[in-house]
Amino acid sequence: MKLPVAELHIHLEGTLEPEMIMALAAKHSIELPYSSIDGLRAQYEFSSLQSFLDLFYANMMVLRTREDFHEITMAYLQRANDCGVRHVELFFDPQAHVERGMDLRDVISGIREALNEAEENWGISHKLIACFWRHAPASEALDLLRLMITEKHEIDGIGLDSSELGFPPELFIEVFDLARANGLHVVAHAGEEGPADYIWQALDLLKVERVDHGIRCLDDEKLVQRLVAEQMPLTVCPLSNIRLRAVDTMADHPLPSMLEAGLKVSVHSDDPAYFGGYMDANFASLMESFNFSTEQLTQLARNSFESSFIDDAAKQERLAEVEAWANQH
Ligand code: HPA
Ligand code: ZN
Repeated sequence: MKLPVAELHIHLEGTLEPEMIMALAAKHSIELPYSSIDGLRAQYEFSSLQSFLDLFYANMMVLRTREDFHEITMAYLQRANDCGVRHVELFFDPQAHVERGMDLRDVISGIREALNEAEENWGISHKLIACFWRHAPASEALDLLRLMITEKHEIDGIGLDSSELGFPPELFIEVFDLARANGLHVVAHAGEEGPADYIWQALDLLKVERVDHGIRCLDDEKLVQRLVAEQMPLTVCPLSNIRLRAVDTMADHPLPSMLEAGLKVSVHSDDPAYFGGYMDANFASLMESFNFSTEQLTQLARNSFESSFIDDAAKQERLAEVEAWANQH
């Protein structure tokens, strides 16, 4: 039995494997600046978050139809099922697809259909979270959120992603106020490359229920105390942090000290097609450097479900699966 976990920090567009990008480009007769999969793979050396985002946004242009969204979501869920994911809260970037002229209804219904099939086939439960771009004007996010609410698009929450430095959470207060007033869950990327102050802002101004990444909290002792006291979930993505140079090597990763400090951390894969792997690869890499005990692994898995937005009864069921795993190890 694999360690049962909840995947709470995964960008759908970040699961686009090079093979899928080439196949979708061929299907839609889109010319890419690379002629082979190896040529594309050769671009996967990143020096910062921005250097990754440039390629990430360029590649997602190959997504053109409802079927494309269904297909890539299904491919991800199959992969997730293989590595013990029992619940997924999937991010997608609506602005990227609307900007390209797609109908938001096609994007969301394609994703939703695959999520529902995975629930039927494998019992993987789900939530869907629309992430707004912090590099784009907040007014654009606000207009799109208003439209999603008016047209009753099936989303469970909103997030905030893309370039962090220079785009503080305070710019998005109105967007998050509107989301919360409409019963949507709220999360935000903060403290990935940006300073601890952005985490304070996400908490105090956006009133987030979860912080994505959040590793820079360690620069601010008062902030750590608050995050521990509130048991504020932090969705940590170890392979992403290494590949985007937020942390030098896995041996330097702060996850063990965060766990030790009592922070509510869990492990996630962010953009697995770009960063060297899915949930299983993240755990394998952590084990190689830190050889976590059964107790530590159990705590990480428990945290992932406790940090999720699934209802209480389902949460208890998932937590029982974690305890069953712990009893076998
Ligand atoms: N950070 C910010 N935006 C993103 C990321 C990330 O790690 N992945 C996809 N969009
Ligand atoms: Zn992310």
